[in-house]
Amino acid sequence: MKSKEIRNSFIDYFKDRGHSFVRSSPSVPIDDPTLLFTNAGMNQFKPIFLDQIKADSLRAVNSQKCIRVSGKHNDLEEVGVDTFHHTFFEMLGNWSFGDYYKKEAISWAWELFTDVWKLDKNRLWATVYVEDEEAHDLWAKYTDIEPDRILKCGKKDNFWEMGETGPCGPCSEIHYYIGSDIDQQSQDGVNKSEEYWELWNLVFIQNNRKKDGSLEELPAKHVDTGAGLERIAAVLQNKTSNYDTDLFLPIIDKIESMTPYNYKNNPIPFRVIADHIRMLSFSIADGALPSNEGRGYVLRRILRRGSRFGRTLGLEEPFLFGLVDSVIEIMGDIYPELIDRRPHIKKVIQAEEESFNKTLDRGLSHFEKIILDIDNNLINGADAFKLYDTYGFPLDLTQLIAREKNISVDEKGFNDLMKKQKEMAKASSHFQINDDEMDWVIYSEGEESKFLGYKLNKCKSKLRRYAFKNDQVFLVLDQTPFYAESGGQIADMGLISGKGIALEVLDVKKTNESIVHICSGTFEADGEVLCEINEKRREAIRKNHTATHLMHRALKDVLGDHVNQAGSLVHPEYLRFDLTHSDKISKDQVLKVENEVNKHILLNKKLEVSIQNFDDAKKTGAEALFGEKYGDKVRVVNAGDYSVELCGGTHVNRTGDIGLFKIIEESSLSSGVRRIVALTGEASLKEMQKNDSILIGLQKILNTPPDLMEDRISGLLKEKKHLEKKIKSEDSDINIIDLVSAAEKINDRVLILEKIKNTSTDALKTIGDKMVDKMGNGVCVLISEGEEKPNALIVVSKSLNSSGILAGDLAKSIGGFMGGGGGGKPHLATAGGRDNNAIDQAIEKSRNLITKLLKED
Ligand code: SER
Repeated sequence: MKSKEIRNSFIDYFKDRGHSFVRSSPSVPIDDPTLLFTNAGMNQFKPIFLDQIKADSLRAVNSQKCIRVSGKHNDLEEVGVDTFHHTFFEMLGNWSFGDYYKKEAISWAWELFTDVWKLDKNRLWATVYVEDEEAHDLWAKYTDIEPDRILKCGKKDNFWEMGETGPCGPCSEIHYYIGSDIDQQSQDGVNKSEEYWELWNLVFIQNNRKKDGSLEELPAKHVDTGAGLERIAAVLQNKTSNYDTDLFLPIIDKIESMTPYNYKNNPIPFRVIADHIRMLSFSIADGALPSNEGRGYVLRRILRRGSRFGRTLGLEEPFLFGLVDSVIEIMGDIYPELIDRRPHIKKVIQAEEESFNKTLDRGLSHFEKIILDIDNNLINGADAFKLYDTYGFPLDLTQLIAREKNISVDEKGFNDLMKKQKEMAKASSHFQINDDEMDWVIYSEGEESKFLGYKLNKCKSKLRRYAFKNDQVFLVLDQTPFYAESGGQIADMGLISGKGIALEVLDVKKTNESIVHICSGTFEADGEVLCEINEKRREAIRKNHTATHLMHRALKDVLGDHVNQAGSLVHPEYLRFDLTHSDKISKDQVLKVENEVNKHILLNKKLEVSIQNFDDAKKTGAEALFGEKYGDKVRVVNAGDYSVELCGGTHVNRTGDIGLFKIIEESSLSSGVRRIVALTGEASLKEMQKNDSILIGLQKILNTPPDLMEDRISGLLKEKKHLEKKIKSEDSDINIIDLVSAAEKINDRVLILEKIKNTSTDALKTIGDKMVDKMGNGVCVLISEGEEKPNALIVVSKSLNSSGILAGDLAKSIGGFMGGGGGGKPHLATAGGRDNNAIDQAIEKSRNLITKLLKED
C-alpha cells in the first residue's frame, strides 16, 4: 500500500464512522509562544479539551504535521541512528470531543489494524496504564487480541502529557514486532527493544496538569489518538526502516545521485539528511525562518546538522536546497503550502547553507585545534561557546562531532556562558512578562480582557487582577480599548485613571488569552477605571497597518507571487515590512509600488471586516498569515477587492484616510529577505516637505533648476577632484622651479641637495617624477624632516645612469647615513632614516659622496 493510500484509508475509515476531516494545523504555531512547534495532533484541539471553545463536530479525523525537536517531546538524538524516529512526521488521529470513549477507540483501532490493513495479530501488543483496569478489560472483551498480549505499564509509558502543563490522561498503545522470527517475541521487549515499534497511541484525555503539578478532572472525557504514518507505511510496505518507504526513498535516491557514497553501506548520513530536509521544508513553508533565537534557532541547528552530515558524504557545496523538490514531489499534493512556497523554501535553505559554509571549514579547523589541547577528553564550556559564537556551531553540532572522536563537551559550562549572553541581551530588551513569575492579586472574578478597541478609544473597565514588578503595575481588566502587541502591530499607549489611580500605559502584552496593561504611576486597587488610548497615536498606527496590507498586495503585483511576508512592524511613526525576495528592489520597482498603493488610497475604498471560518476565508483568496488553528474564526480585512488578509489589527475606515504613502528605505535584511520602511499620512507629507526644502535650498545655492541638479552636482564633484589634483601638482612645481634654479654645478652637472619641510613618500615620488624632466643632467637629493623620522628622495638623470651612478645605490647609502636604508629604480629612489637629528649630517655626507662621484666621472 502506498503511503498516500494509507493516509486516505485511515481518514475514510473514520469518516465512515461519523468523523469530520480537519486539516492539519501549521507545524509552526506562530501565535503560541509556549510551543515552538506543533508536537502532537492534539495541540490545535487543546482549547476544546479545556472547555474554552466548543467543537464544531464531536468526532474528527486528521493527519497532523508534527515536529519533535524541543521541549518534552524531542526525538532529535534518535534520528538516523535508529530507523523510526523523526524530527518531522505525520500523525494520523481520530478524535472524540466528549463523545465516544475507550471502548470505541480500542475496538476501531484494532479493527482498522487487523481487519482493514490485515496486520499480523501475532505481532501486535497492546499496553494499558497500570491503574486503568477498564481499558484492560475492554481490550479483552471487544477485541480478539490474545490476553497475554495485553500488558500493564507505568506512568512513563502509559500516561500521556502534552508538556509540563495541559490536557493529559492514561493511554493505551499498540506495538508491533518487526523482528524476522515471530517466535523470538517476548513481552519484555515491548517499550524496551528497538524491534518493537509503537504504532498507535490511544490517549484518554480526562485531566489537566496545572502549573503547580496537580491534576484536575476535565468537565468531559475525550479521545486523542496518534499513529505515525511513517511507521505504519514501513510495516504495510514490509520494511524494517521508515527510510525504505515511499515517504523517504525518493529523497534518499536524490542524495545518492549527488554523492559517490552509497545509502546501503553508509545509511546514517542519508537518513539524517532525508529527515532534516522534511522538517526544514515544512517549517519554512509554515512561516519559520532560520535565526539566532527561539524556533528560528532550532531551524538553524537542524540545517547545520544536515549540512555537516553532507560533508561526511563529500557534499561540500550547498545541496540541501536541491532536495526540496523531492519532498514536494512526495507530499505536495496533500500539503499544497509546499507547492505555494517552493521558491521561498529553496531560497531560504540555500542562503542559510551558503552562509554556514563560509564558517564551517574555519570552525572545523578550530575544532581540530581545540582537541589538540584538551584535558580529560573534554571540550570546556568556553571553547564550545567560542565555536558557537564565532563559528556558528550549535552545541549539538559540536557534541556530534566530538562524539565521533569519543570526546565529550562541558554542557553546563557552555550553558552558563549562553545564559550570561542572553541576560545581557534581555537587559537591553523591552518589557517582558512571564506569567509564571507574576504574583497576581485577584480583585474580582468574571470575564477578562474583552477587546473593545476596534470600535472604542475609551471605556470604563472593571479591575480583575493586578501585580507589581520593577516599579511597574500590571493590570488585567474585564474589557479594554488597548490593543496588545500582536501580528506586527505594536501596542497602544494611553492613560488609566480612577479613584487613587493615575497610570500611564507604557505597553500592553497578550499572555495566553489575557491582555496585560503595563503601567507606571499611582495605583491603589479600586473596582472601576477609565481607560483612554492615545487616539492620535492609534490613528497613525491604523494608517500604517492598512498601508501595510496595500503594500503587501502591490509588492506581489510588481515583484511576483513569490513575495511573502517574513516579518512586519506597524508603528505609529512608520511601517516596516520584510518580504521574501532575493534581488534588490530597483528604483523603478519602488516607484511602481508607491504608485500602486497611492492609487488605492485615492480610490478611497471602504475597509470591510468580517469574521469567517478559516477555510471559507482561504477560499476567497485571503492572504493567510501563519498560525491559524482549528475552530479559528478568522478576521478577514478587505481593502476594496484589492487586498484581502486575515488580520486581527486595527485599520482605517477608508483607504483615503491614509493620505499619502512613501517608501523611504529598501535594504537587504538577510539572504532572500528584503526590508522596506515606509511612511503614511502626515509623516510621509513631512518627509516629502523636508526633501523639498532641501532641494529648494540646493537650488538657491547652486542656482540650478531641480531637473539639472544631478548633472550640476556631479559636474561640481568632478571639477573639485580636478582642482585638487592641480593644486597638488602646482605646489610641487613651484618647489621644483625654485630648487632647480638654486642648484650647484659640479663638472657641468647639477647637484640639488636640500632639506625640505615634511613631505610624504608619495608626494616625494610625485616631485621626483617631475624633477627627472626639469633638472637636466645631474643628481637631486631632497631630505624631508618627517614628524618623527626623515624621508629622502634621490633622482639621478638617465645620462648619469649610463656612467654607473644609480639612484637606488645612493638611496642605500643616504638611508644608511640617517640610520636607516633605501632603494628604488636607477633614476628614482627613496630612503628612510631613524632620526630627524641625523639630517644635517646626512646632507654633508651625501654632498661629499655625490661630489666625488660627479667629479670622478
Ligand atoms: N497525543 C498523543 C501523542 O501525541 C496521541 O495523539 O502521542
